[in-house]
Parts: sequence; structure tokens; C-alpha cells
Amino acid sequence: MTKIVYASRSGHVEKIVNQLGVADALKIETGEETLDGDYVIFTYSTGRGKTPKVVEQFLAHNPGVKAVVGSGSMAKHAETFNFAAENIAKAYKVPILAKLDGVGTSQEIEDLAKSLANCNHLGN
Ligand SMILES: Cc1cc2nc3c(=O)[nH]c(=O)nc-3n(C[C@H](O)[C@H](O)[C@H](O)COP(=O)(O)O)c2cc1C
Repeated sequence: MTKIVYASRSGHVEKIVNQLGVADALKIETGEETLDGDYVIFTYSTGRGKTPKVVEQFLAHNPGVKAVVGSGSMAKHAETFNFAAENIAKAYKVPILAKLDGVGTSQEIEDLAKSLANCNHLGN
């Protein structure tokens, strides 16, 4: 399975990753982590539509990103909902597998698990 890399400040993204039952996900703490090969990046949004700095740093020197999953807040940030995922999709020309509100619903997590399984068939 394609590696999952994630950033989580208050725990939502971490919970999403845990619900997917991924054992060896890599958590971005400093942005300086390195990873060989392909990965799907999971991120929250911050600062009115911004991508977290550590996520930008990670992406800048790890070229294997294949897709993105976002977690945002519709209640508090409807106008910039999941913009970090949108930013990454545009900048790296990768698909958005899901834009979740908080930890998402159990149906969304189920669908996401299927999309991730399909991701293994995406090009290199
Ligand atoms: C300062 C701040 C700014 C935020 N800005 C956005 C935003 O622009 N768009 C959005 O969808 N969510 C925004 N959020 C909400 C978080 O992205 C959302 O709560 C997410 O689930 C947090 O993930 P985490 O718990 O893994 O850190 C913001 C949250 C904070 C604290």
C-alpha cells in the first residue's frame, strides 16, 4: 500500500489515519523528514486557507506525492474549506481523495479506504 504521510496539530488528521488502520504512517513534525517512494499526504488547513509550513517543507524535498487528503472545518472556515488540500492538488497536480470536515463520517472513511487501495494502481 502507498505510504501515508500526515500532519496533525489538534488530532483530527491523526484520528482519520488511525481509523484507516494504517500501521506505518509517517507523521510530519518538523518538515525535514525524508521518504523514498510514493506517498499520499494528509493535512489540515490553517491560517485562512494556508497549507501548514511543515507540510510545504516536507513536499518541497520529497517528490513522491501521489494524492492528497484534507481535513478542515466547514463550521469555522467555510470560505477556505480544505484549501490546503486544494493548494497541494494544484501545485503538484495530484488528485484530492477526500475533503473531510473534522474527522469525517464513517461512510467517508470507508470510501477513502477504497480510494487509497485504488491509489496503488496510479502511475509511478
Ligand atoms: C488557526 C486555524 C486556522 C484554520 N484555518 C482553516 C481553513 O482555512 N480552512 C479549513 O478548512 N479549516 C481550517 N482550520 C480547521 C482545521 O484545518 C481543522 O480543524 C482540522 O480538522 C484540524 O486537523 P488536526 O486536528 O489534525 O490538526 C483552521 C484551524 C485553526 C486552528
